[in-house]
Amino acid sequence: PIILVINGPNLNLLGKREPHIYGSETLADVEEKVSRVASEMGDCELIFFQSNHEGQIVDKIHEAFGAYDGIIINPGAFTHYSYAIRDAISGVSVPTIEVHLSNIHTREEFRHHSVIAPVAVGQVVGFGTMGYELALRGLLTMIKGVKG
Ligand code: DQA
Repeated sequence: PIILVINGPNLNLLGKREPHIYGSETLADVEEKVSRVASEMGDCELIFFQSNHEGQIVDKIHEAFGAYDGIIINPGAFTHYSYAIRDAISGVSVPTIEVHLSNIHTREEFRHHSVIAPVAVGQVVGFGTMGYELALRGLLTMIKGVKG
């Protein structure tokens, strides 16, 4: 399978940005970590994309249409209000897992609601960078049609 891994706004600052919330690993560390899981699970290609711009994220999701088998996305703050990203995900009908480093449900009120969640096949929150690994394992298991 080919999986698109998208990180939204401010995640390019990972490692430097509020490390007490988001940890000290960089986005490059995360990509390396998740790549290790991909090779461990075999027959899996990852495409990485980060953008601070809503429209670029929408365009990238469109590229997945008929081309990729799954999407893992941390939409950053767009999680809470981007109907454009939500519609792009439902429009391409590619199974999508939503990831958040922090537990959005225990933080500020505005983070409790995700407009992405209803169009995602799963959500991983609160496990830090490990969340991307868990998402990939879950997504590949789902794609291969293995239950449990
Ligand atoms: C985040 C949570 C969002 O509320 C926040 O705006 C982010 C990061 C997370 O990974 O915990 O940018 O998506």
